[in-house]
Amino acid sequence: MTAVTFAPPSPNLALNQLVDRRRAGGDSLIHLAFGEARLPLLPQLAEQLAIGATRSAYGPVAGADGVRAAVAGYFTRRGLPTGADRIVVGPGSKPLLMALQLSVPGDVLLPQPAWNTYAPQAAYAGKKVFGVPIPREYGGMPDPGALRETIRRARRGGGDPRLLVLTLPDNPTGTLAPPAAVREICALARAEDLLIVSDEIYRDIVHDPEATPFLSPADVAPERTVVTTGLSKTLGIGGWRIGAARFPPDEAGGLLLDAVVAAASELWSTLAGPMQQVAEYAFAEPPEILARKRASARLHGAVARAVHRIAVEAGAECRPPAGGFYVYPDFEPLRGRLAAHGVTDSASLAERLIDDSGIVVLGGHLLGDRPEALRFKAATSLLYGDEQQQQQALQAADPAALPHIAETLDSLAEGFARLTRRGGARTAR
Ligand SMILES: Cc1ncc(COP(=O)(O)O)c(C=O)c1O
Repeated sequence: MTAVTFAPPSPNLALNQLVDRRRAGGDSLIHLAFGEARLPLLPQLAEQLAIGATRSAYGPVAGADGVRAAVAGYFTRRGLPTGADRIVVGPGSKPLLMALQLSVPGDVLLPQPAWNTYAPQAAYAGKKVFGVPIPREYGGMPDPGALRETIRRARRGGGDPRLLVLTLPDNPTGTLAPPAAVREICALARAEDLLIVSDEIYRDIVHDPEATPFLSPADVAPERTVVTTGLSKTLGIGGWRIGAARFPPDEAGGLLLDAVVAAASELWSTLAGPMQQVAEYAFAEPPEILARKRASARLHGAVARAVHRIAVEAGAECRPPAGGFYVYPDFEPLRGRLAAHGVTDSASLAERLIDDSGIVVLGGHLLGDRPEALRFKAATSLLYGDEQQQQQALQAADPAALPHIAETLDSLAEGFARLTRRGGARTAR
């Protein structure tokens, strides 16, 4: 048989499975390595799924008219007038992002760090990846000066960067690029003729939307921005696999949509009929959907801020989270003390956290960050407890003070403190 070559499985999914195995073996772990918004399923979503069960035909590749119109309405309500003919739905935004990478020529520019799937997808699409450092204040978007310089260097070296992927709000940093930065990057994308893919899957769970202005690149450079979104994060139904993409309104946008639909027709055919029923209902945003989004954004914000505080109190630098459920601490200020404990890079930092304290995180090296940096991503959304506790957390005035969450936060603080303390591993918790 001819040898096959393959990339390792996505590190967050692999770590999630490791955690399941170790927990089954009796280990007590604090799982911060998987960005799943685990919350009780809204009963209305289950009802829609049951209603949709009769939708057993394939249907159009881009999605049925009703669901495309609902997603177009969702974007239009967010200030981006959208025709239903500019929408494609698919089984999660991940395959839509892959189809985009397959459909756009040239190489890819990514913020550094970035969500761990963009780079492997680029490799599968035969593209080179050029990482561009993020500014000190926010992630999900490269530093403009560094982006300009990277494009120059890439072209001098024979690269052909044409696609810029942005994440607003960001996974892994949990931050949101401010409007002025979005304008600056869009101007640069125009000058350099880049297509922007704006991954806005966390848009509806900005923690405090009143106080946090959101500007989409599609507002500023509509002719060159594709927006992707989905229901995995905002409604906690990642396993149902519902995603959508919005294409530019002009002729070139239509051609790109056609190319993505062609790729979809060879990859997944169409979003499952019952899921189209769910998507049509959820993207229309009846009051119970809006209420759930608001409640979950509040909960994610409260717990992400608590974890941020713990990281900073432990001596790390960390950008304050603004959306989603992530923080991205940098333990550089403690490098000397960490080195004394054998921690010299993000891999050894993540290893030490799991071995000594049962804290599972995703090292920055798995997100395209410099391996020698002392950074990791902590996903905070699995700290809400079992289903009953999640419900309680959704309604609590101060979720981080609930006993089951506060106790885990204390263990986290203790684990971070143990990193630089003599004497090493925990005793049984
Ligand atoms: C930034 C980002 N984009 C896209 C996705 C993919 O989500 P889905 O394929 O479930 O829509 C994720 C999930 O972790 C994510 O964090």
